[in-house]
Amino acid sequence: MDYFFILQMLLLYLIPLYIANAFPVLIKKGKPIDFGKSYGGKRILGDGKTIQGVMAGVFAGAVSGLLICLIFSDLLIIQNYFFLAFLLSIGAMFGDCAESFFKRRIGIKRGGRWLFADQLDFVLGGLLFSLLFRIPEIELVVVLIILTLIFHTLTNNFAYKLKLKKVPW
Ligand code: CTP
Ligand code: MG
Repeated sequence: MDYFFILQMLLLYLIPLYIANAFPVLIKKGKPIDFGKSYGGKRILGDGKTIQGVMAGVFAGAVSGLLICLIFSDLLIIQNYFFLAFLLSIGAMFGDCAESFFKRRIGIKRGGRWLFADQLDFVLGGLLFSLLFRIPEIELVVVLIILTLIFHTLTNNFAYKLKLKKVPW
């Protein structure tokens, strides 16, 4: 296995995913995507998923991809990398919203904890959308998931201490 290749791939996937996932938290007041509507007596997504949040995430993730393209232009190991970064960013937002949808269905309120799903939603959503562009290496997927389970817990604790997030997960 070419470790250097996997490491480069890891960074190219990880940067847009993590940036897209981090930016919605900065939105203090946004319009809920579900417009406050319920389904079967429970909110469709809840107040934690806003239109502004999704737009901030997609925009920030895409910009990170664009910057990587500009800075590393000729060195990049993925052609047309911007499209991948864009798909990862939209997919990350989709995964996050899909997770909230399922959380509401099983009765977990906004901000409530759902182990593993809370940590991995954006990575799995991003990977799903990225399939439109290329099939990721299995090593890449495994490392991405393990790293996220470790780091997401740490960074969420950090965001909680900075009072950016209401709960430490
Ligand atoms: N956020 C947002 N729009 C999004 C995603 C997140 O505005 N599309 C903001 C919300 O203020 C949200 C915070 O970022 O409360 C943290 O995101 P997250 O942990 O995903 O939401 P939760 O509040 O935990 O809600 P849920 O239980 O639905 O995951
Ligand atoms: Mg959450």
